[in-house]
Amino acid sequence: EKGTYPHFMLKEIDEQPFVIRKIIQEYQNENDEIKLDPEIRQAMKDCDRIYIIAAGTSYHAGLLGKQFIEKLANIPVEVHVASEFSYNMPLLSEKPLFVYISQSGETADSRSVLVQTKELGHPALTVTNVPGSTLSREADYTMHLHAGPEIAVASTKAYTAQMAVLAILAVDTARAKDIELDFDPMQELAIVATAMEALTDQKEKLEDLASEYLSTTRNCFFIGRGIDYYVGLEGSLKLKEISYIQAEGFAGGELKHGTIALIEDGTPVIALATQENVNYSIRGNVQEVEARGANSMIISMEGLNKDGDAFVIPQVHDLMTPLVSVIPLQLISYYAALHRDCDVDKPRNLAKSVTVE
Ligand code: F6R
Repeated sequence: EKGTYPHFMLKEIDEQPFVIRKIIQEYQNENDEIKLDPEIRQAMKDCDRIYIIAAGTSYHAGLLGKQFIEKLANIPVEVHVASEFSYNMPLLSEKPLFVYISQSGETADSRSVLVQTKELGHPALTVTNVPGSTLSREADYTMHLHAGPEIAVASTKAYTAQMAVLAILAVDTARAKDIELDFDPMQELAIVATAMEALTDQKEKLEDLASEYLSTTRNCFFIGRGIDYYVGLEGSLKLKEISYIQAEGFAGGELKHGTIALIEDGTPVIALATQENVNYSIRGNVQEVEARGANSMIISMEGLNKDGDAFVIPQVHDLMTPLVSVIPLQLISYYAALHRDCDVDKPRNLAKSVTVE
């Protein structure tokens, strides 16, 4: 039930801090150790490469899951769009582990890859919000997102839950492999939950930004570098799905290789600047698009922010920024859709779970 909320999407955006706290609780035992099926731990230890398979928003979470697993657990990861996988099946490593990320657990494109990789005899782990779902039943192992039912077609809380669970999995694997880490995922996630709350309390400001930048535009670009780029991809998917604004996410460095030709007077450009190592370069990209007339908005993080940034998120661990920086993007999309009289929870042409290939 929506309760007092006008839309499920808004309710689900607001639920994110609670979901993160629930995940902390569910994946921790009484000794404050990570609680995880020992078979999953073993499968992670045994594999020499991970293949993440997913679609849409879950694919975007996979791109960030790769960062966690490679940086923390030191296992190479490939991330594949499910519907493309069979056409371009990569050469597989000797001991692959397939990780299927799916909110619904029913996505046909992902299932068809699962059937194929099972036939080849490769182990499969499904990360899903619905433990009894097809992808969960047919895989060897399941990790539960604990996000509660996600009703709005546009995925919000499942995305942040997927990243949280993948971060925990990465750290568990690192510990199982005796890798020394200066990163306590539960502590970092608790900081994320508090930061999320500070953002869902700033709806008015985000509504103003949505109306200032997006109430009449036909298109909008998201730019970022490194992990900000992946969050930009998710921000652009949210916006196009529910507001029907043509929105695209680009890597800041790619602008000059073509995309910048699209910038006209007044084109909205949303730039994410939450990473210290690319702060200077992404701000340079913003100057380049502004010089061509763009109406740019910078979303930065405390400690890296500058005067004139449109929105500043609280400081969290570098790797955790996507869980937080996506919140203003979700809310801006929500208000843009609302102002443009779109059906927020049930956008045209889309289904909540895509059970056909
Ligand atoms: C985006 C969205 C879709 C789904 C995609 C995968 O808001 O809802 O892009 O993320 O269809 O769905 P699942 O995660 O259920 O496999």
